[in-house]
Amino acid sequence: MINSMQHFFADLVQGLADSPLAHWQVPLEQQLQQLATPNDGNLPRFLAALDALPSPPEQPLRADLDAPAVTVGAAGQVDAELLKAGLRALMPWRKGPFNLFGCQIDSEWRCDLKWERVLPHLAPMHGRTVLDVGCGNGYYGWRMLAQGARQVVGIDPSWLSVVQHLAINRYVRHARHHVLPLTLETLTPDLEAFDTVFSMGVLYHRRSPLDHLEELRQALRPGGELVLETLVVDGPEGHALVPQGRYARMNNVWFLPSVPTLELWCRKMGFEEVRCLDLTPTTPEEQRVTDWKPGQSLADYLDPEDPTLTREGHPAPLRATIVAQRPHSGRLQRYHLE
Ligand SMILES: C[S@@+](CC[C@H](N)C(=O)[O-])C[C@H]1O[C@@H](n2cnc3c(N)ncnc32)[C@H](O)[C@@H]1O
Repeated sequence: MINSMQHFFADLVQGLADSPLAHWQVPLEQQLQQLATPNDGNLPRFLAALDALPSPPEQPLRADLDAPAVTVGAAGQVDAELLKAGLRALMPWRKGPFNLFGCQIDSEWRCDLKWERVLPHLAPMHGRTVLDVGCGNGYYGWRMLAQGARQVVGIDPSWLSVVQHLAINRYVRHARHHVLPLTLETLTPDLEAFDTVFSMGVLYHRRSPLDHLEELRQALRPGGELVLETLVVDGPEGHALVPQGRYARMNNVWFLPSVPTLELWCRKMGFEEVRCLDLTPTTPEEQRVTDWKPGQSLADYLDPEDPTLTREGHPAPLRATIVAQRPHSGRLQRYHLE
């Protein structure tokens, strides 16, 4: 099955040859060939749903990648029932929204709200080669391309996310946007190639957040920009919350630093010009149950008596966005890191 997945990434691998990522071509090709059997028994079901989606119409499709709901095609251009059935077989849709041929995918997260907060502070995306770590189904990648990014590579270990991206790109047919089933830890080290590296909503899932920062730095070219978004708590430099058990019902949350601690971690790991550009509590407007992600969502993870706390009594989710630069010198100034 993995072999049958590889053809989805063949154009990416081929296209690397004449790009700033040329030195990634051979190791990536080998890595994709050696992908272990996926630990996801649902993959055959996801691929069957992908296969069952209507074929793209012959005529060129209008796509609006700059809209809050990333949009492609218009109603009536494909069989609406077949399309909806295929897309619903790929539920839950956590990231979005999307609009395919008039079918509105109202995802759990209004990712457009985060993008609106982050975009005004970024270096212009025009011509940039971007890595989006923990990209989900690649929603933000479309918005980056709309800003003129040259190429976006997303990585995410969730096969559902990878297949959702393939479903969207079946219709957008963009040759320079891929979502690979990889973690940052297994990415070829020391690529030093991406102009911008995003890590949004991933750091708190890592048991070793400083290693995560080091891996992000290694992916960036000297002078490149890191965009880091993660859960934080109030507090002075040095403070971090390490929840004993769950945090907002998530059982894989390790470190929630204060903003000064997070900035310190970035500087310690060799980043410069570290700036916190946004601090926003997550609200049920941004993360909620929808028809495309039934079950529970943020409102169920908060204390019903006091929504400033999670169910477990921790401070409710507050997210910081940090922008920082990899220094041009490429060498860490004061720390010897093996
Ligand atoms: C909370 S979601 C954030 C998605 C998106 N970046 C956003 O900000 O909306 C975290 C994502 O990171 C992915 N992820 C978890 N661990 C990862 C790792 N080690 N490397 C890359 N992605 C990872 C998960 O599969 C998930 O899709």
